[in-house]
This record gives sequence, structure tokens and C-alpha cells, in this order.
Amino acid sequence: MKRVLLIIGGGIAAYKSLELIRRLRERDVAVRVVMTEAAQRFITPLAAGAIAGERVFTDLFDQAQEFDVGHIRLARECDLVVVAPATADFMAKAAHGLANDLASAVLLATARPILFAPAMNPQMWANAATRRNLETLQARGLSFVGPNEGEMAESGERGVGRMAEPEQIRDAVFAALSDGPLKGKRALVTAGPTIEAIDPVRFLSNRSSGKQGYAIAAALAQLGADVTLVSGPTNLSAPVGVKRVNVESAREMLAASEAALPLDVAVMVAAVADWRPMKAAKGKIKKDAAGIPAIALQENPDILATLSKLGKKRPKLVIGFAAETDHVEEHARAKIAKKGCDWIVANDVSGDVMGGAENTVILITKDKAEAWPRMAKEGVARKLAVEIAAVLDAKSPGRK
Ligand SMILES: Cc1cc2nc3c(=O)[nH]c(=O)nc-3n(C[C@H](O)[C@H](O)[C@H](O)COP(=O)(O)O)c2cc1C
Repeated sequence: MKRVLLIIGGGIAAYKSLELIRRLRERDVAVRVVMTEAAQRFITPLAAGAIAGERVFTDLFDQAQEFDVGHIRLARECDLVVVAPATADFMAKAAHGLANDLASAVLLATARPILFAPAMNPQMWANAATRRNLETLQARGLSFVGPNEGEMAESGERGVGRMAEPEQIRDAVFAALSDGPLKGKRALVTAGPTIEAIDPVRFLSNRSSGKQGYAIAAALAQLGADVTLVSGPTNLSAPVGVKRVNVESAREMLAASEAALPLDVAVMVAAVADWRPMKAAKGKIKKDAAGIPAIALQENPDILATLSKLGKKRPKLVIGFAAETDHVEEHARAKIAKKGCDWIVANDVSGDVMGGAENTVILITKDKAEAWPRMAKEGVARKLAVEIAAVLDAKSPGRK
């Protein structure tokens, strides 16, 4: 039986955590609860304990609690730590590694995966301090579910900050606990655009939203892979269970991709700028300086070709995306030959694919070209993840 350690923070959404406990237990997940002092102002340990069917832990310095299980055992005796609701305060404490109460001490002491379900007023969520804490926690590989957009329970305000619904958190818990076919496999996904500086305030970029790459990272993680998502600037939050590394330029993306080695699979979805300005000006180029400036360009490194030609360190499976507007299959085949990758997922971007919710792709391998029907980017991602799992499973020696 899987065991979740649920940390309940002091937010109004704490009442929803009681429902979460119920949803987990009805699927045979054991839930042990830790509550912050503030959480106990909103719901009682009695209620949480009654639904969890176990005693609830609240105090780092209570001798009986510490001798009974203790904060180190709480941190160890679980498969996953879930923080719901994760308050702005708790995110700040976690980002800084504070450990001055039972909940934060357990979080610091655990080596298990951690899933946060933030809940707070939209202004608190948008605050630069919270943004920074979120980035810090995501960079450490912690996962997030929500927050959602909607009406706030106490103020009636609308905005992003509502805690994810209990069913949504439960699904994220199952994704994080998954023993899928890609368990133990290391995957890299690149996503989003790159931006290439002209000067400190101007850049060259493209219209990639990152949606398809993020969906693929999520789908691989759901099948149990250990996923690093190297992402150019996007408005998306990292999928559950995925380690996100933020980059800007093509050269940074290449360095971050190489740092993710060794890999079983690399899926290169990012729209990498082919060229960058020869020289990024140190100061802002003045409008009235010397007429209209000519921007000389030079070629960027080819990340797909570099990873495909790594020799011994080459990932077992290297997949490129090809955005084409005409002769889609023909150009994609030429790309496989030129780059040395294994598969190309060719998409026709002559319509509204860039930034849109759907995609029409052709999966091209050395021996097949399979046109998939138009579907949501999440659907393309799940289908591709299943294809990847089939190939990696077959390539793993000693597996049935
Ligand atoms: C009525 C009320 C509702 C609150 N709701 C939230 C909330 O939804 N999210 C949040 O981050 N803080 C909220 N707070 C503030 C937290 O309770 C406060 O920051 C507390 O110190 C959090 O402690 P903890 O992180 O240890 O649980 C609320 C406070 C009150 C009085």
C-alpha cells in the first residue's frame, strides 16, 4: 500500500484537504497527516485524524509525538509528501530551508518526492516574492498542481490562487506515485522558444508557446520517467514530477541539455532560433545613433544534431520535431538523415498550431511514416510517450 504524508497549511482551503484524504483513502492510499499551527485554526486535528484513520501530528517539541514517530520517521515513512494547501508562508519557508516547526522540519528532512498544491489570494500568488519562491522550488524538482483560476472562498475575488480540486490533486498524487513503464528511465524534453539578445532590451525570438513540449514532459513523467524539461521563456508552469531548467538562448539550451546526460530519450521540441546576432550590444542601441542598424547574424549550435552525434554518450532514442509549412514528410525525412536522430515528429505549422491547443503530426521513423489524426497536444504527447515506452522497453536488456 502506498503512503502519503499530507502536510496541511493554514489557508482557508484546508477544508478541501479533508476531501482529499477521503479521495486518497478510497483508492487505498494510506494518509498520515501533519498540520501546521495555523492549519489548526481552520480545521481540527480531530476531523483530519478521523478521516485519515490515524493520529495527526502537529508539534515538533511534543515529547510524546517525537518519541512515538518523530519528525525524521515521518519524513522517511512515506512514498510522497503532499502539501495542501501550500500557503504563501509555507512556500517561502520551504524555499529558504527553514525548519522551525514540525511541517517545515519534515519537509526539509525528507528525501521523497514532494507535491505542492498552493492556495492563496491572487495578489499573494502574483507577488514577486512568491514567484521567486516558486521558481526556486521548481528548480529543485518539487512538483506543483494548481493553483487554478476562480473565485476566492473568503473574498469573492477572481484570479489565480484557488487550490486545485481534491480530485485534481489525487490524480497528481497518482502520477507522482506511478510505477509506469518508463520507471527508472531518464528523459530530456526541450520546449518553448529561445530568445537571442540584440541588446539588453531587444531580442529575436519566435511564436512557440511551449505547450506541446510541456505536454510531452508531463506524459513521460506520468509513465514514470525521470524528466528534465529544459525550457525557453513560456507562461506555463512545470508539470507534476518534472524538473524544469529555465534557459533563454540556444547556447544555454544546449549546455542545459548536455548537463542532463546520461539519458535514455531526448525529445527536442523547442523552437530553437537558427541564428543569433553576431554581437549583442552591451548597452541599449540608441534610435538616433547612426540610422537604422543592420543586424548581422551567425548560426546557432544545432542541439538536435549535437545530441544525435554524441557517440557513446548518445541517448538511446533521439527525437526531433520539425515544424514545416510545406512538403512536410519529405523535409522531415531529410532532417532525420541530416541530423542523425531516430525519429522526427513533423507538424504542419501552416495553420494555427503555434500557440494553439491542437496539433496534426506525422511520426516518421526509419521505417514508417504514420499520420496521426488531429488531436489535443496532450493527446499527441500521450501517444508519443507510449511509443517511446514501447521502444525503450524493448531496448532494455533483461526485460520481458
Ligand atoms: C481567514 C484567513 C485565511 C487565510 N487564507 C490563506 C490562504 O488561503 N493562503 C495563504 O497563503 N495564507 C492564508 N492566510 C494566512 C496564513 O494563515 C498565515 O500566513 C499563516 O502564517 C500560515 O502559516 P503556515 O504556513 O504555517 O500554515 C489566511 C489567514 C486568515 C486569517
